[in-house]
Amino acid sequence: MDKPNSFELTGPEFIPSQYDHHIVRKLSSMVGQYLDIEAYQEILAKDDLVLYEVYEIKRPEVAGELLHGVSIVHPGKVGQEYFMTKGHFHTVLNTAEVYYCLKGQGMMVMETPEGDWAIEELYPGRVLYVPPRWAHRSVNTASNSDLMTFFIYPGNSGHDYGTIEQQGFRKLILEEAGQPKVIDNPRWKAPGAR
Ligand SMILES: [Fe+2]
Repeated sequence: MDKPNSFELTGPEFIPSQYDHHIVRKLSSMVGQYLDIEAYQEILAKDDLVLYEVYEIKRPEVAGELLHGVSIVHPGKVGQEYFMTKGHFHTVLNTAEVYYCLKGQGMMVMETPEGDWAIEELYPGRVLYVPPRWAHRSVNTASNSDLMTFFIYPGNSGHDYGTIEQQGFRKLILEEAGQPKVIDNPRWKAPGAR
């Protein structure tokens, strides 16, 4: 039988005092996701940079459980586009997620299978509810600080990365004159075109 369990999640570092998995995602895992393909290739030729990391607390991946952990997106850009997570739908589409921003500054880019989109700002103390059916990607818009969030989602959600790899997100976040700017993704495949 499981017993209740607690751990510490304190600043300024916000690394959980207890975790089971430490996932590291590098630039090479983001083929085709960044708008500026030349800039992507150029950086990759020099160094396969770590874009983001996830600390996961392991729980059974079944309904009723809550998976949780900490996500860290490092600062940086590929061309003018900020470092970001791969982004995903949940395999069980009808499952939600909660994010609590611990540190840094960024945006959550979201969209539904029908192509509705939304972008919410993330900064320390901000709570974001991602409803069922919304794909989500975090973007670090700070120039020199990690974007750190604590996340919680249903144990049976699963991750569908493939859909976003194929169609992209409708909106991209680029830096323009030192400020984040939302643009249309010219390579996005609209629902009718997939
Ligand atoms: Fe998720």
